[in-house]
Amino acid sequence: MRSQQMQYPSGPKGSWFTGMALELIKDPKKFFHKYAQEYPEILRFRSFYNHFYVISKPEYLQHVLQKNAKNYVKGMVYQQIKLVLGEGLLTSEGDYWLRQRRLAQPSFHRNKIAGFFELMKESTNDIILDWERERGKELDVYPEMMRLTLDIIGRTMLSTHESSHADTVKEALEKTLFGTQRRIESPIKWPFWVPNQINRTIQSGKKDLDQIIYGIISAKRKGQNRHGDLLDMLMDAEDVDTGERMNDQQLRDEILTIFLAGHETTAIVLSWALYILGSHQEEYQKLKKELAQVVANETFSITHLTELTNLTNFIHEVMRMYPPAYGIGRLALDKDQLGPYPLKAGANILMSIHHMHNDPKFWGDPEIFRPSRFENFDFRKNAFRYMPFGGGPRICIGNNFAMMEMQVVLVMLLKAFSFEYIQKTPPESIALITDRPKNGILLKVN
Ligand code: HEM
Repeated sequence: MRSQQMQYPSGPKGSWFTGMALELIKDPKKFFHKYAQEYPEILRFRSFYNHFYVISKPEYLQHVLQKNAKNYVKGMVYQQIKLVLGEGLLTSEGDYWLRQRRLAQPSFHRNKIAGFFELMKESTNDIILDWERERGKELDVYPEMMRLTLDIIGRTMLSTHESSHADTVKEALEKTLFGTQRRIESPIKWPFWVPNQINRTIQSGKKDLDQIIYGIISAKRKGQNRHGDLLDMLMDAEDVDTGERMNDQQLRDEILTIFLAGHETTAIVLSWALYILGSHQEEYQKLKKELAQVVANETFSITHLTELTNLTNFIHEVMRMYPPAYGIGRLALDKDQLGPYPLKAGANILMSIHHMHNDPKFWGDPEIFRPSRFENFDFRKNAFRYMPFGGGPRICIGNNFAMMEMQVVLVMLLKAFSFEYIQKTPPESIALITDRPKNGILLKVN
């Protein structure tokens, strides 16, 4: 076999000093989409003294995320997240990650998640009762969806509704998450011990959370407060080879990780979903009709979910257009090769999920919202073109949880309300760690 001719990726050069940093920081999503079309397989660019490769050929993404995943670890951003989350699933690596993933995986199985259906309904019902009082008014649905998804993760993970901790957990989490996000996004990262405002916010939230979480774990260890929640499942999970279980520190890291990874992303998708319902009447009517046929006058139950195919396609189309995790990064441990392109050890790889979801070579009219494109869609074959939950062994562990949660919330909100987007221009988004609504999403709730 003839060996493949080496090629070296090229890309935009930018300024001698900052490289492409300014254009990248201004709008990372636009940056990746623009240059990935100009350099369709791979491009290389510099931001100050860091060099990056952006890969956009599905086979290359599959290579990095799946086929040769052992050669790659998570990128720079995760080092910051680690300060707060410790060695949770999102931030750990290697054998330790694999062991933790194997321990946690069964708790996220479809059958286990099914047990949370009623809790998700209860949380949504509470929001509906609040919104009843706001009927006819304009409401910013983004913070509302954040409130809802945080409540859902609190109930399912720690049974906060069964305890007196609900408000303290919420407050402490908000502080910690808000602070962590600010820290990650801030260009200067002061060491964690420097008592500036961001670090102080994180430390104070973290202290409260640790106290509560360790308290809950300790009570559970004594056999109290066992409610079959996610924490119970993680505590009971045993390593198949050694019979070992997680210790308190490991449980704490996993719980915080799931809180962080599991609520904002879902809230963002739900907010955009409501925006579409408020601005595309035909989509709203289509889903209402499906609900009338499938659920009709019955009590909404988990068995209805598989029949709600239009709703499921609708959610996929929202995630195609507005993927909250719009890009992911990896660092090469050893040298590697992508097709004809050599990669050095230490290479920083970026993958734009947003670009993959909007590449006109693959998606017809990508700027048009059209859920029917997911009818008969081959998810397996296109796993590295449509990938809101990432891909390969580090694919989102909460994907089934998130899908069920979004279905439950949307069914219940659709049954209770109609929505109207009355602002003159569409909502803007801002891509930081996640891509989220920049100034919220105002909707008239009728
Ligand atoms: C629409 C909602 C969600 C989206 C779009 C999303 C997206 C993602 C993506 C893209 C990754 C992979 C990151 C990478 O490879 O660098 C990921 C990982 C992860 N997600 Fe999600 N996620 C969502 C909801 C959730 C929920 C509800 C939970 C938990 C209940 C969760 C927990 C996690 C965890 C623990 C990881 C790390 C997995 C590992 O590395 O083993 N996510 N998520």
